[in-house]
Amino acid sequence: MTRFVTFEGIEGCGKTTQIRLAAAWLAERGIPVLATAEPGGTPLGRKIREVLLKRGSFAIGAEAELLLFAAARAQHVRQAILPALRAGQWVLCDRFADATLAYQGFGRGLDAGFIRTLNDFSALSLSPDRTLLFDLPVEAGLARAEKRTAGVWAEAAEDRFEREDKAFHGRIRDGYLNLAAGEPERFRIIDGAADVETVHREVCLRLAELL
Ligand code: TMP
Repeated sequence: MTRFVTFEGIEGCGKTTQIRLAAAWLAERGIPVLATAEPGGTPLGRKIREVLLKRGSFAIGAEAELLLFAAARAQHVRQAILPALRAGQWVLCDRFADATLAYQGFGRGLDAGFIRTLNDFSALSLSPDRTLLFDLPVEAGLARAEKRTAGVWAEAAEDRFEREDKAFHGRIRDGYLNLAAGEPERFRIIDGAADVETVHREVCLRLAELL
């Protein structure tokens, strides 16, 4: 049976490291797996990622931002995620529709009802079987994220969101927790502040529930 599992959380929550470890853990068990990310995962998605995340010289309003994430998702689902699931692979995805509700809804203040409709359209009605939410205090996440981008050449840094103020990131954390509370059967909250090994063990337990 194939499974579609999404990894979510605020900046610096550790989900990208964890998705890599989780994909290796599944592969060691002989489970075919695609690890992918949003925005990204397709040539169009990677172009959109560049536009959305790099420090650009042009403005991107909240509405345009929302539509660009949706466009990246539509292509990702059609071109990469659905074909992988149909081919019998598990798909682990670094962010998906919940990120749009958290960032553009709770963070930017765009209408949640409209975002849900757009999410459903752009995801071709696909929804995750399980969502792992890596939760930790905003200060701790931002400190990790800053460390990560510190060594990166300014033009290449994907930090347009990281540079938002603490209140923005606070709304996103609360938003994610709110989404998790609304769908306890789909979400599993994992302590993202723990060390990489401890978090990985917890992720494995959560994936094992789906085997
Ligand atoms: P990440 O690869 O570090 O998670 O970066 C993706 C960034 O894009 C992150 O700041 C969250 C943001 N984002 C949104 O605002 N809305 C979305 O729908 C998605 C997928 C990501």
